[in-house]
Amino acid sequence: MRIAVVGVGAIGGALAAMLETAGGHELILCTRRPLQQLTVNSPDAVIRVQARNATQPEQAGPVDWIIVATKTYDAEGAARWFPALGATGAPVAVVQNGVEHRERFSRHISAGRLLPVIIECPVERTADGNVRVRGAATMQIEDSALGCAFAALFTGSPVAIRLTPDMTTAAWSKLCINSTGALCALAQKPTSVLWGDAMSRVALAIVEECAAVGRAEGARLDDAIGQRVLDHYRRLPPDSVNSLLADRRAGRRMETDARNGVIVRKGEKHGIPTPLNRMIVALLDAV
Ligand SMILES: NC(=O)c1ccc[n+]([C@@H]2O[C@H](COP(=O)([O-])OP(=O)(O)OC[C@H]3O[C@@H](n4cnc5c(N)ncnc54)[C@H](OP(=O)(O)O)[C@@H]3O)[C@@H](O)[C@H]2O)c1
Repeated sequence: MRIAVVGVGAIGGALAAMLETAGGHELILCTRRPLQQLTVNSPDAVIRVQARNATQPEQAGPVDWIIVATKTYDAEGAARWFPALGATGAPVAVVQNGVEHRERFSRHISAGRLLPVIIECPVERTADGNVRVRGAATMQIEDSALGCAFAALFTGSPVAIRLTPDMTTAAWSKLCINSTGALCALAQKPTSVLWGDAMSRVALAIVEECAAVGRAEGARLDDAIGQRVLDHYRRLPPDSVNSLLADRRAGRRMETDARNGVIVRKGEKHGIPTPLNRMIVALLDAV
């Protein structure tokens, strides 16, 4: 398959390495600046991705699959690649956090061509073209013909793929984890800052707000979701850095709206108060 990866940072780099390991694909890395090379270090291997680099849509030509791995706030820029890459109707897999994969791209691509993907992958970009994967990756994809076709691209790579009939629950479950990641960005400390009793209590309350809004949106989230989020963070390496904290440290824009703002916005729609998430948005916007 000819596969374009739009946005080759941490996740785009990790996905390109998975596709390289799967083998048999022609990869095109779509970036804003020239990319001299892409090396992905994982605990098991160092993968040098063999790919063509394009910095303008017209350099790329039509492909069989488009994978978007930009930050959520760069959706408009990512969509500028679609007319050239998708000239023959290629589907678009949106590998981003949040719960609004479809809304973000609805103006640019028909619903039948869009595949939301939820990814768990502890990964950091250490420099342009250098990515460090710190652990196992899992992707959740809808159990549909398009989802199965996307999953098949990764056959032979180590990523675990879960096909699910309920992407709403998958996306909101991940948002419960991501919503608390804001505490790391606010404290400017890696994951272990969430392990203390006081921070754990705050994290639980943030998740409760998120879960209440998620349930109103149709997600099936039980009362143990908060504890599962805390357990998730306790399993991560103590010095792991989530992408919100990585962005704050690097002075980049943060995905505050997609991770906490959305809880406030959708909470308002359902009349559910979300004071903690509202405070997080205000504080992160202020810094
Ligand atoms: N990192 C993680 O551990 C992790 C885990 C799970 C999910 N996620 C989610 O995955 C998504 C991607 O996150 P990330 O951490 O990989 O972000 P990232 O490291 O900042 O990478 C995003 C890349 O997109 C590029 N980009 C932006 N606009 C573009 C455009 N118009 N054309 C081409 N490239 C463009 C950026 O280019 P520049 O280099 O020019 O800025 C950057 O290289 C986010 O939604 C994030 O929340 C991340």
